Amino acid sequence: MAQARGFTVFLTGLSGAGKSTIADVLIADLAAAGREVSTLDGDIVREMLSSELSFSREHRDLNIRRIGWIAGELNRHGAAVVVAAIAPYDAAREEARALVERHGTFVLVHVATSLEVTERRDVKGLYARARAGEIAQFTGVSDAYELPSHPDVVVDGGAGTPAEAARQIVDHLTDRGLLA
Ligand code: ADX
Repeated sequence: MAQARGFTVFLTGLSGAGKSTIADVLIADLAAAGREVSTLDGDIVREMLSSELSFSREHRDLNIRRIGWIAGELNRHGAAVVVAAIAPYDAAREEARALVERHGTFVLVHVATSLEVTERRDVKGLYARARAGEIAQFTGVSDAYELPSHPDVVVDGGAGTPAEAARQIVDHLTDRGLLA
């Protein structure tokens, strides 16, 4: 049997947008479809791979470059990769796209949950701390989030369930012939 084509689903959006939750459902869906899946979640990448990096633009861009490179290497061998990272800068996301596309297909998903919703949820309490001035350069509060110029899929994490968002992504992958 021919090797399946590797692809990377890259979920970008604000902290608390629901990226990791949607990723968890998507990973289960892909595994159920018989795919090998690796996950690169922002929180874990920053612990295991990028622990020396800050949240300056330069370091965020380096973080996303590392993620893009690894995702491409995994795609080379036919694996599916699901990334969940804020990735606030469009140029860095497009650089990740180019790194992945050397070996696989890149699917950019904007988890477009509004700042109003993410801040109201404030699951980790980080928005309150950022508003209090305890966290500098916090995305959406005191740092930029550039809207994706070329999203392949847009899901609203403020409306609908994570399962519905994952379904929208799976449908897109199916339409593009990435799932048998
Ligand atoms: S990125 O900008 O480099 O893509 P990343 O996805 O790794 O960000 O961020 C991981 C997590 O760091 C966020 O989900 C959030 O919990 C935490 N975090 C800590 N400081 C910041 C900050 N200044 N801005 C945004 N998130 C932060």
